[in-house]
Amino acid sequence: MTAFSTWAIVVAAGSGERLGADRPKAFVAFRGGSLVAASLAVLDDHDGIDGIVVAVPEGYETAMSLIADDLAATKIATAVAGGPSRGESVANAVACLPAGVDFVLVHDAARPLLTPSLIDRVLGGLASGADGVVPALAITDSVKRLAADGSVAETLDRSTLRTVQTPQGFVVERLRAAIAAAGDALGAATDCASLVEASGGRVVCVEGDEANIKVTTRADLARAESVAP
Ligand code: CTP
Ligand code: MG
Repeated sequence: MTAFSTWAIVVAAGSGERLGADRPKAFVAFRGGSLVAASLAVLDDHDGIDGIVVAVPEGYETAMSLIADDLAATKIATAVAGGPSRGESVANAVACLPAGVDFVLVHDAARPLLTPSLIDRVLGGLASGADGVVPALAITDSVKRLAADGSVAETLDRSTLRTVQTPQGFVVERLRAAIAAAGDALGAATDCASLVEASGGRVVCVEGDEANIKVTTRADLARAESVAP
């Protein structure tokens, strides 16, 4: 049996403008710790993850070491300064992965409620040979595409549409190549899978988790806090 090496990247370098707290979003208090600590704890505990790189706002490297100490985390190898966009933060973290890593999961610190079983599903997708794996949810609302004037141009077939979450899993070399090929698209990308898709990679979906919400606003933070741990 081949033992694959799998690392995780947690992107925590955003400012959290829409949350409007007195500190970057990832460092906002959550369940006795911080938002970023919640996902780090789950990833650090998972047997399928061998090491972790965190992208933090410039100047927050020490704060991250303290969080890692507090969690008694054993797998956090590096805290690297992120970039001006999510894509650039991912790129900085990918550059810190050691040689010989096969797979990487990229996760947003803004999603503190990821679960071991969601990680299992993403790892399962990678083991079955995809270049990229995204946790996806079906859409229950009707979805409209708008014309330039804001009127409805068409109603899309929602059965073929999904919303996607993190963690997203990738063959490391596929993600590296996609980042290298992205050019200006890196800064505009809202997820990593879009870069891998654009460079010709095969991305598959696994079942997401309704509870794995993204904290963007104050209301989201309150909702995430209210989910039973
Ligand atoms: N992120 C990052 N580096 C950036 C921008 C975002 O690492 N330059 C991370 C955030 O920390 C977050 C994830 O990417 O975990 C998703 O981004 P988002 O939810 O938009 O967070 P923020 O950019 O911090 O929030 P806002 O857009 O409201 O400022
Ligand atoms: Mg943002």
